[in-house]
Amino acid sequence: MWMGGDFDYDSQGADYAAQRRADPRIAAYIERALGDARTVLNVGAGAGSYEPLGRHVIALEPSATMRAQRPAHLAPAIHGVAEALPLDDRSVDAVMAVATVHQWSDLAKGLRELRRVSRGPVVVMAFDEVAPGHCWVNDYAPELLAAERRRYPGLEAIAAGVGARAEVQVVPIPFDCTDGFTEAFYGRPERLLEPAVRRAQSSWGFVPPEVEPRFVETLSADLASGRWDELNGAWRRLPAYEGSLRLVVGRG
Ligand SMILES: C[S@@+](CC[C@H](N)C(=O)[O-])C[C@H]1O[C@@H](n2cnc3c(N)ncnc32)[C@H](O)[C@@H]1O
Repeated sequence: MWMGGDFDYDSQGADYAAQRRADPRIAAYIERALGDARTVLNVGAGAGSYEPLGRHVIALEPSATMRAQRPAHLAPAIHGVAEALPLDDRSVDAVMAVATVHQWSDLAKGLRELRRVSRGPVVVMAFDEVAPGHCWVNDYAPELLAAERRRYPGLEAIAAGVGARAEVQVVPIPFDCTDGFTEAFYGRPERLLEPAVRRAQSSWGFVPPEVEPRFVETLSADLASGRWDELNGAWRRLPAYEGSLRLVVGRG
């Protein structure tokens, strides 16, 4: 039974776990924000990326396809959505939600629920799509960023929902980031030519059908001719990119 957000992970999410592996350097930001929480609710848990080990985790995920990709060392996820959490008030030490808030049908309601069930931090990893300095991908597929801007909630709305004392941190994206969201390939353009990589990035489902083939064709041609490196070669030497990835932490 599908009850989740704006992208159908039940039919489109089969490659997700392989392409979107938690990056340990990004995970360290989440671990720090969770502090000494022993019990954690992971909302929109997907296949379990970034789920902390060594704590008691309840995972909640609406898509059966995503739940089925959880590795054996993690507890199974229960079916549910952020907007109606099946937990009592203040029943866990912390709540986390990674790369999921943009899919919820009602952001404010979902965040109210996260705040309600957490005794401590509410930790949200999200993308700030109005952040300046977007990388070269925008030159090849401006429709992608436009779609993300339409789709992604503003950081102020997230910060307002996670609690009175909200803090927003920029999370640098490492050059060899193992979590394959679009900006993760800022210095490895060839990887974005792989269909499996793009299939694990839901934003491609929100642009007109001609955009993806045009992106592949123009990027392939520029890489083959050396034009990409002429214009963008510096991205290959950047050890980490402060792009749109953010951690929003509310503490009550
Ligand atoms: C991009 S995936 C992220 C999964 C995981 N947190 C990660 O970091 O890999 C977004 C997830 O949010 C889930 N989702 C969509 N709408 C939701 C909602 N209303 N409440 C909770 N989760 C939702 C989707 O099913 C999907 O698994």
